[in-house]
Amino acid sequence: MPRKKFVAGNWKMNMTSSEVAPYLEIFRRETEHVDTVDITLIPPFTALAKTSEILDGTQRIRLGAQNMSPELKGAYTGEISATMLRDLYVRFVLVGHSERRRLFGETDEIARRKIITALATEIRPILCIGETLEERQAGQENSVLEGQLQGALAGLTKDQLDEIIVAYEPVWAIGTGLNATPEQAQSAHRFIRDYLAKTWGTEVSSRSRILYGGSVTAENARKLLSQPDIDGALVGGASLDPRAFAEIVSAAVPAE
Ligand code: 13P
Repeated sequence: MPRKKFVAGNWKMNMTSSEVAPYLEIFRRETEHVDTVDITLIPPFTALAKTSEILDGTQRIRLGAQNMSPELKGAYTGEISATMLRDLYVRFVLVGHSERRRLFGETDEIARRKIITALATEIRPILCIGETLEERQAGQENSVLEGQLQGALAGLTKDQLDEIIVAYEPVWAIGTGLNATPEQAQSAHRFIRDYLAKTWGTEVSSRSRILYGGSVTAENARKLLSQPDIDGALVGGASLDPRAFAEIVSAAVPAE
């Protein structure tokens, strides 16, 4: 069975709750006809409730969160728990995003703990991995990816892996306007799928969706998404414009 494409918009630290309604009015209209792509919006925490309320349980556009505490509850001032996210009908959570790794000290081990907590709460983790420019220039991209996969996914069962989405986001391509070429991205995605196959078997790895993220635009999306192992896109900057994001979603619609 072909893997259904998955396109997610990570709004990062942008958008207030009052900006959500005008955004959704345009985005829903522009994507109304699309039912062959899984669409997910990932607003900041403070806009989750409003987005959830407007989407009102629609299955066509689902909700993700940008972060989550690895702890279930308790004295963790400033943190947001998986249960709180479930309460707002959040279905996905980003884990190990390079901005969280670089700016907030998120390690593979923290990512692993968040994944375990998310899975226990029926939230599907989107594990972000990717190499820096220096690592690529040193020819280390595959070993970096393998280390991040190993560190965050160690010990998971096949059933658990089935719930996980991996996003390949080369750090040098995030927010720089410098996307990986379709060939570079395909090669990394192939490597990731081979790692999943080696560790959990081909039945699971052939079902796993692997997203590309890093300067995806309406212009380059189609070429990236037509690669055999690229199953979707994790979009930052371009997802802030509902029309541009809708175009990226359209680029993921499978050809007849
Ligand atoms: P940009 O699309 O802005 O490069 O961001 C990518 C990203 O980090 C998505 O999570």
